[in-house]
Amino acid sequence: MINRHLLQERMIEEQTQFSINHPRSKALFERAQDSLLDGVPMNWMVKWPGGFPVFVDSGKEAYFSDVDGHQYIDFCLGDTGSMVGHGPDPVVEMVVDRVRRGTTFMLPTEDAIWVGEELQRRFGLRYWQTALTATDANRFALRLARQITGRHRVLVFNWCYHGTVDETFITLRNGVPSSRRGNIGPAVDPTITTKVVEFNDLQALEQALADRDVACVLTEPVMTNIGIVHPIPGFHKTLRELTRRTGTLLIIDETHTMCAGPGGYTQAAGLEPDLVTVGKAIAGGIPAAVYGFSEEIARRIRQTTTVEDADTGGIGGTLAGNALSLAAMRATLESVLTDSAYRRAIPLAQRFVEGVQSVIAKHDLPWNVTRLGNRTEYWFRRSPAQNGSEAAASMDPLLDRYMHLASLNRGILMTPFHNMALISPVTTTESIDYHTAVFESIITPLLE
Ligand SMILES: Cc1ncc(COP(=O)(O)O)c(C=O)c1O
Repeated sequence: MINRHLLQERMIEEQTQFSINHPRSKALFERAQDSLLDGVPMNWMVKWPGGFPVFVDSGKEAYFSDVDGHQYIDFCLGDTGSMVGHGPDPVVEMVVDRVRRGTTFMLPTEDAIWVGEELQRRFGLRYWQTALTATDANRFALRLARQITGRHRVLVFNWCYHGTVDETFITLRNGVPSSRRGNIGPAVDPTITTKVVEFNDLQALEQALADRDVACVLTEPVMTNIGIVHPIPGFHKTLRELTRRTGTLLIIDETHTMCAGPGGYTQAAGLEPDLVTVGKAIAGGIPAAVYGFSEEIARRIRQTTTVEDADTGGIGGTLAGNALSLAAMRATLESVLTDSAYRRAIPLAQRFVEGVQSVIAKHDLPWNVTRLGNRTEYWFRRSPAQNGSEAAASMDPLLDRYMHLASLNRGILMTPFHNMALISPVTTTESIDYHTAVFESIITPLLE
């Protein structure tokens, strides 16, 4: 279907075009080589296709501009950090006010209570704590789960991603649990700390939990980091039954699946986790994360931890719970990441899916496009994957990079490193339809 020779040729053309059109970004990247490792402030930014990243000037709503004066439709939205659009006015106003009145005190502000009460309402969990990143929220949740169960192992699903959390860098290689490729300097071999099974494989899950040595299952309710992998019917019901039966705690990571609705997939599907973690979108782009748990978990935490040791127990952080993050969370939850925002964004995401689907059908491509709430993604296999291995096996890095770069050259930023699009409540239908046209125009030259 896709002519690989043409693909390689077109990729070179797109790279040349990108380089010609972005002289200032290129110059900044060259200057950065002197002070930033490989010219970027964050190691994985070297992966952006094009040879160097676009340097951003500013962003507003679902759009941003770069230092070369190009405007982009942003379907990456900071990989969910700016899911509601860049610089939402209510967040800007509250954050500016908070900055003027002080940002961090090691003391609570009233906003914290408002946020706790709102999260209770959305997720149905009683108690809430804060962190600065979803990674930290997950790390803290794992520690608590181990502490209160007295069990040391955790279970994750193959090809999951929960941030830079040591225990989660494990994959199945030919069915054998192994440290994930690229796992940098692991403190402990993750096969010691972690069991890993395929998502949707309830038999393997049952076997893995049978020994009753697993403190918790940490999972996204729908996988999103190896493409969108939906649970099969009955998956969550059985997951909950098995975890309850074996005394295993269930942690649902809603960091990406907040795209499903105001209370994430937990609320949308009526899940009953013991703990929930959320980061990224909940503070409108300001670093903040939360983790929540049931009354029963709180009781067990209180039984096993002491106030005296609370500041040295591996949970917390000087800036976690700071006034600025809480003000941003309050403004986001109160005025931006609201029911009406989802009512606007989700139909737009459906329009995106229908546009891409119509092109796939027209050219009879062996691809599919999936959606969860306002998150959509096209994938180079005929039907959606049912687990991480199936999804990983259909990855096509060159095609991915080409689609990404060719879109960027036409003013569209997709989320790397598979082509995912988040649709914000402030994205326009024109932008969606423009994407459909670009999608068709960049694949047509690759077809046999
Ligand atoms: C499901 C999930 N959880 C946690 C994280 C970690 O988020 P952060 O990098 O902001 O700590 C990510 C990041 O992509 C994620 O996708």
